[in-house]
Amino acid sequence: MTGSADFVGRTALVTGAGGGIGSALVVALLDAGATVVATARDPHPARLAAVPDELRARLDVRVADMRDLASLPALVASVEKDHGSLDVLVPAAGVGAVHGLDLALDVWQDALTVNLTAPWLLAQAALPGMTARGFGRILFVSSIAAYTGGRIGPHYAASKAGLHGLVHAIASRTVAAGVTANAIAPALIGGTDMVAAIPDVTLPPIGRLGRLEEATSLALALLSNAYLTGQVVLLDGGIRPD
Ligand SMILES: NC(=O)c1ccc[n+]([C@@H]2O[C@H](COP(=O)([O-])OP(=O)(O)OC[C@H]3O[C@@H](n4cnc5c(N)ncnc54)[C@H](OP(=O)(O)O)[C@@H]3O)[C@@H](O)[C@H]2O)c1
Repeated sequence: MTGSADFVGRTALVTGAGGGIGSALVVALLDAGATVVATARDPHPARLAAVPDELRARLDVRVADMRDLASLPALVASVEKDHGSLDVLVPAAGVGAVHGLDLALDVWQDALTVNLTAPWLLAQAALPGMTARGFGRILFVSSIAAYTGGRIGPHYAASKAGLHGLVHAIASRTVAAGVTANAIAPALIGGTDMVAAIPDVTLPPIGRLGRLEEATSLALALLSNAYLTGQVVLLDGGIRPD
């Protein structure tokens, strides 16, 4: 464990911990010294199987389905009860099956539920404790699709753009209480099931997919900075230069 003053003694909640980016974030936060509650739909996520014992002692894996919106405030409450606080929230679970403009309403609604409403309900439930304790970090996982429309479809782009509104709505109201709200907006990160499912991927100008450690290092930088809030940071290998 390397450890960091920013994370030692903090409790983080990461959803989508069975996925590429979520699992990498869990390991990065453990390595930085945090206690991590990692939620997945599988009780034994394969990508977390190799977490070493010295880090696993601070890992609490729980089953949670982001479609079960009514369960999410109770999830936050249970983390606070069991670990004393919830200091860092990274709702990384996301859906993104590729669809055209003719997508069905249930596909649209599912993307909004998992990608936008669930992160909002988790943040809403976490904020009172964070502001009362005078410390909190919320980091949403948006996408370049929120800017460009992307390859996955209108449901995905709209759900991710909604997170940008949340960043701005939360940040200005909470920064004086020690709580920041930001988002990373990655594009084409390798080692993820989502990118593996996109047909005919065109590489970004850098000429390769992004690496999981490039996503986690940016995430930890944002989570470490008390003065940086209300921002969405693109991580896209040069796709959108402005
Ligand atoms: N990869 C990229 O280039 C990229 C770019 C921009 C944004 N993102 C975002 O990054 C986040 C992580 O995705 P990823 O790239 O790591 O892809 P991934 O490997 O497909 O991971 C997605 C994760 O979301 C979980 N999930 C989906 N529906 C869920 C639900 N109803 N309840 C709970 N968990 C659910 C999946 O769980 P299961 O394993 O149980 O299906 C999986 O663990 C997502 O929000 C995605 O939109 C990724």
